[in-house]
Amino acid sequence: MIEVYADSMGAFRIIQISDTHLGHDRRWFVPNFEAMRAIIASRRPDLVVNTGDISLDGAGSEDDLAFARRCHDGLPVPWRAVPGNHDLGDNPWSPGLGQPIDNERLARYRRHFGEDSWILEAGGWVLVGVNAQLLGSGLAAEIDQRIRLATLPSRAAGRPVALFIHKPLFDRSPDETAVTHRYVPPEQRARLGELFRGADLRLVASGHVHQHRRHREGGVEHFWGPSTAFVIPDRRQPAIGYKRVGYIEYTLFPSHVVAMTVEAPELTNHDLDEFMPAEGQISDAARRVLA
Ligand SMILES: [Fe+2]
Ligand SMILES: [Fe+2]
Repeated sequence: MIEVYADSMGAFRIIQISDTHLGHDRRWFVPNFEAMRAIIASRRPDLVVNTGDISLDGAGSEDDLAFARRCHDGLPVPWRAVPGNHDLGDNPWSPGLGQPIDNERLARYRRHFGEDSWILEAGGWVLVGVNAQLLGSGLAAEIDQRIRLATLPSRAAGRPVALFIHKPLFDRSPDETAVTHRYVPPEQRARLGELFRGADLRLVASGHVHQHRRHREGGVEHFWGPSTAFVIPDRRQPAIGYKRVGYIEYTLFPSHVVAMTVEAPELTNHDLDEFMPAEGQISDAARRVLA
């Protein structure tokens, strides 16, 4: 989908939320989403983008996707989303994944959230949402996405481009060769790089890690959006960025972007262990939330 979102050449403000993990039955992170909605109502950005893991387990439960969609319908400004592994399954970075992306999961996501990749024109910029979970899947939709992205350099016609994608492209360098759950796999990263060649990519905003980081590589600013829901304890996940819940507000000017990462006091800095102290176990505190 390609649409002109705003024809203003002035500043365009975006709030990036991520990893909201909204569950129909396990509503642990709904209070943080409600707090985020109030923040959005007061900040009034032009657009909200959720960079994925919108739902707690949309890959396994349609109820979670439907519930997460209803939550987003309550946002007071326009919004867009890109899917994460929790929403429609993971990209096949390793054999034997428990929840790989497939056509059924993709169709279910689209039923509730519409297009899983998109191109918008806004404030003199071109905004691109990419479904990272499709990369390397071999699904027909992966080819469709590639064809759409191939039009980007000519569509952008020299305007700056911002990419929104669930998984970060890499840890420290685009030349990394490790294949992990955390980043876009090297082969797919290279193919994506080819598609963006000829476009003036300035900004990559991702989620997935539940840690915030900002780094500049080859003239591109990479922002890892914090989760608005919870952080993952060090015993489960090493700290490679900043572990606090929050959001990022971007102001896009025709020549540059200003970004502000916000650790909002209205958001509770949940630790996953509050709810799941051991793999698959649900804590008494979590049960009380559900009661
Ligand atoms: Fe997540
Ligand atoms: Fe994720």
